[in-house]
Order: sequence, then C-alpha cells, then structure tokens
Amino acid sequence: MTHANQIIVQVGLGKRSYNIVIGPGSLHRMGEHLQALGLSGKVGVVTNPTLARLYGASLKRAIVKAGFTCHVLSIPEGERTKTLRWASSIIDELVKHRFERRSALVALGGGVIGDVTGFAASMYLRGIPFVQVATTLVAQVDSSVGGKTGVNHPSGKNLIGAFYQPSLVVSDTDTLQTLPRREWLAGLAEVMKYGVIADRKFFSFLEDRMEHILDMRETDVQAVVKRCCEIKAKVVAKDERESGLRRILNYGHTIGHALESLSRYRKYIHGEAVAIGMVYEALLAHHLDLCPAAVVDRQRVLIQRTGLPVKMPSYSFSRFWGAMGHDKKVAGGTIHCVLPRSIGNVRVLPLDLRAVRRWHAQVS
Ligand SMILES: NC(=O)c1ccc[n+]([C@@H]2O[C@H](COP(=O)([O-])OP(=O)(O)OC[C@H]3O[C@@H](n4cnc5c(N)ncnc54)[C@H](O)[C@@H]3O)[C@@H](O)[C@H]2O)c1
Ligand SMILES: [Zn+2]
Repeated sequence: MTHANQIIVQVGLGKRSYNIVIGPGSLHRMGEHLQALGLSGKVGVVTNPTLARLYGASLKRAIVKAGFTCHVLSIPEGERTKTLRWASSIIDELVKHRFERRSALVALGGGVIGDVTGFAASMYLRGIPFVQVATTLVAQVDSSVGGKTGVNHPSGKNLIGAFYQPSLVVSDTDTLQTLPRREWLAGLAEVMKYGVIADRKFFSFLEDRMEHILDMRETDVQAVVKRCCEIKAKVVAKDERESGLRRILNYGHTIGHALESLSRYRKYIHGEAVAIGMVYEALLAHHLDLCPAAVVDRQRVLIQRTGLPVKMPSYSFSRFWGAMGHDKKVAGGTIHCVLPRSIGNVRVLPLDLRAVRRWHAQVS
C-alpha cells in the first residue's frame, strides 16, 4: 500500500517489529491498514469524548468499510483515566462483545488513551493486536514508539504496566490541527530533546525551520515526526527494556519530573517541565565542565522561540534534590542524569550531591 504523502518508519524489533505510518489523512485508510495486518472480524476503538466527536465517526467508517465490526468505547478525558479500573472496564467491554485473539484494539488519542488501551490489549487473552492512532504530537513522536504501556497507581505515575508492542501506529498529521496549542508546544519540547540526545543535524534543522514548524506547515511537521520516530526507534531497537541506552530519552526529565512534582502537577504540563529541565540539565553539564556554554545557549534560544518556558522557579536545595530523588528511575539511591557533551551527544552520569548543591546555589 503506497500513498504519495505517507511516510513509513519501521520499528525493528525482530518478531515484534511494526510500522509507523505518518501523513495527512492516514486515519481514513485504517480499514486497509488493518486488513494488511491480516486481521478480520471485530475491532474495538477506545477514545475519549473530544476525540470521538472530532474523529470517531470517520475512523469507524473507514474500519467498517473494510468489512470489520466496530465497537467504539469512549472513556472520560484526562490523566485520571490512566487507572487499573479503566483498563479493567475496557476489558469488560471486550468480554461483553466476545473479542477473540485476532480481534484488534485501536487507541484513538494521545498518550493517555494509548497507554491505558495498550495495557488492556496486553492483558486480554494474554495479548491481542493493538493499533494506535496517535493524535497528539507527544503521542506521534514519543508515547506510540517503544511499547511502554501502563497506568498510574495512587502513589505514583506509570507504576503499573507492561512492555507491549503495537502491531501498527498511524500518525495522522491532520489531527494535530485541532490539538490545543499548549499541547502542541509541549510535544515540541520532546522533539527538541531528540536533537540534543542524538542528532546534531536535526537540531540545526529545527533551528532553521522553527517558524514553519510553529505554523504547522505539513512537510515540516511530517519531517519532524519522521525523524523523531526514527531516533526513538533506533534507541528502542538497541535497548527495548531500558537497561542502558534507552535512558538517554530521559534527557530534561530528571529536573523536569522534579518540577512537575514540586508544583504538584498543576503549574506545568509535562513538556513544559521538560523544556525547563533541558535548559537546567545543560547548565549543570556546563557547570561540570562537560560542555561549552554554547550548548546551553542554543537550546535556550530555540526553546524560547517556541514560547515554552525556560526559567525554573526557585526552590530550596533540599526540596529540589529530594524531588529529583523521587523519580522512579533512581537506581539504588544514586540519582543519574542525562547530561549533554555537545548538541547530538549525551552521557548518563551519577550526580554528586555536593557538586549539584554548589551549582544550585549559582542558578537559583
Ligand atoms: N508510553 C510511553 O512511552 C509514553 C511516553 C510519553 C508520555 N506518555 C504518557 O502520555 C500521557 C500524555 O500524553 P499526551 O501528551 O498525548 O496527552 P493526552 O493524551 O492527555 O492528550 C492531551 C489532551 O489533548 C486532547 N487531544 C488529543 N488529541 C487531540 C486532537 N487531535 N485534537 C484535539 N484534542 C486532542 C486530549 O483529549 C487531552 O485532553 C501521559 O500519561 C504520559 O505518561 C507515555
Ligand atoms: Zn517526556
């Protein structure tokens, strides 16, 4: 199946390999996509009321046109549906409609819908085919790639989950047109992150094209989504279960997560906290003599051009350090942080409390 304006990125994971189809209008061809996977029979679409209203009918039409029976389940909007209870009610629906091993579950939405639906798909009958229609920039460049699915526990985010690869991801770039501007910008923080961790040329491309990207020019948006998927796919292919390399994807996140937690998840959405986190992790790297000041400045300038925040509110060192230590990726009490050496090259290093305290006193 070839369409002139569709790009395909393959995530190479042996038997669990899958394609990401990127392009405008790709959700309207969902029926063909499902057929190409060798599926038939029943398809369940999980979404929320906003996305059901915007895209539910067209997606269902495309699926039914190809001869599938389609059940749409709309769950409430927002992070609060990323729970075991909602994963379980998705499964109730599959039981009710007698879904079988070759029936597919499709997530229509952003990272929230993708994570909870993928987790339900991984559990039902020990795993049924799962397809994501990614409708946020975060989902298109990040959450739909790599197979992390899961839900939150009252005591922490993403504490429950499974590695479960989708059979296909469809990133319909047209859907980004209706995304709230704030959500779109939050996705751009992750986009810039990929440049810093892995691709100097891509970072320069973002510097050259940022105005067009901010205007959502189709060819630029497609190029951005494609390159980010390629970078993440390459990292994930080398380290599917996060034992090493995959940790570089957490650049900006050690401080970013600390800021989200210190502000009780109210002040910033995730990408905004990551934008600030990138600037300050770069500042820390510079303080530790790992990189020249230009590595900090280029990131700060580019992030500022998008309108994302770059300044960290001031917190006492003990609160700041404590919040960094609460990140669930802290191994054995040592806080590791991804630190840039240049644009396109990072290292994961343990942080020394005294060095960070000295630096914190200068920047806060
Ligand atoms: N699995 C992973 O590897 C991974 C990676 C990154 C983030 N995540 C998870 O993803 C979640 C965040 O995902 P997100 O940033 O996509 O946010 P989201 O899924 O909460 O969506 C953001 C908001 O935009 C709305 N929306 C989505 N698409 C829209 C569209 N096209 N038009 C209009 N409105 C639209 C949603 O209804 C929601 O209100 C978090 O739970 C995070 O933990 C997972
Ligand atoms: Zn992130």
